[in-house]
Amino acid sequence: MATPVTPQERREELKLVYEQARACVRCRELASTRTQVVFGAGNADADLMFVGEAPGANEDRMGLPFVGQAGKLLDQLLSEIGLERRSVFICNVLKCRPPGNRDPHPGEIEACREYLMRQLELVQPRVVCTLGNFATKLLRGDPAGITRVHGREEVRVIGRRAVRLYPLYHPAAALYTPRMLEILRADFHGIPAVLAKPAPPQPEIVEPDEPEPQEADWRDALAAAPAEPPPPTEPAVVQPSLLAGLEPPAPPPETAADPPAPEPEAEQPRPGPEQLGLF
Ligand code: URA
Repeated sequence: MATPVTPQERREELKLVYEQARACVRCRELASTRTQVVFGAGNADADLMFVGEAPGANEDRMGLPFVGQAGKLLDQLLSEIGLERRSVFICNVLKCRPPGNRDPHPGEIEACREYLMRQLELVQPRVVCTLGNFATKLLRGDPAGITRVHGREEVRVIGRRAVRLYPLYHPAAALYTPRMLEILRADFHGIPAVLAKPAPPQPEIVEPDEPEPQEADWRDALAAAPAEPPPPTEPAVVQPSLLAGLEPPAPPPETAADPPAPEPEAEQPRPGPEQLGLF
């Protein structure tokens, strides 16, 4: 497909990425333990994007990022700087909840990286706030921890786009540590000044004249072999029950007394991101 250019085209493409992510089974454990994929939500044409770590239990249940206590704090901090959630885009490094809220594994971060890269490429934020260590290390491409780099804006090229990266403490960490909350709040109050800066110059993209036949489309890459080798026992399927609420209800079982089945109806369209309140 041609590179999407207008906000509408970028949003349409984002919907396709969402559909890909929603069916993703690259991480066997996460795919079989999640309730649903938490792709991200907000304004698909936002100037400001927040990238957290991974969904927790509440997010996994609701299909939306940052809806628990950390999300309430994020909403509060946004309101203090005159912004609201629907004007920004919020997502995570991992789109699936790690069981027991354990840390993301490196293989999972790698497997999920392309979704985040596509989100950045399509939303085209000017400013990206990483929340906590995982997002900060991934998007800075550097192991320096959040304690060293929080509150310092820098221009970074991520994928094919230059953004102003502004690392912040993770709100969940600030919930229990008053000193961290103070720092997070002070850094947060620096966001308007970062947003007021001009968009960073974009790197020149040299499009090849001919499509390179050996280069796989990113969708092929996502659909390729799972991130981890399959263990011998567990099947690599998303259990139907995990799609509860998203799939049309299953028909009742047939009995001998049932009248002949009517002609199959056209397949119900699955709810899109608008219906699910995502973007
Ligand atoms: N913590 C995160 O990093 N992301 C969420 O969506 C919720 C809590």
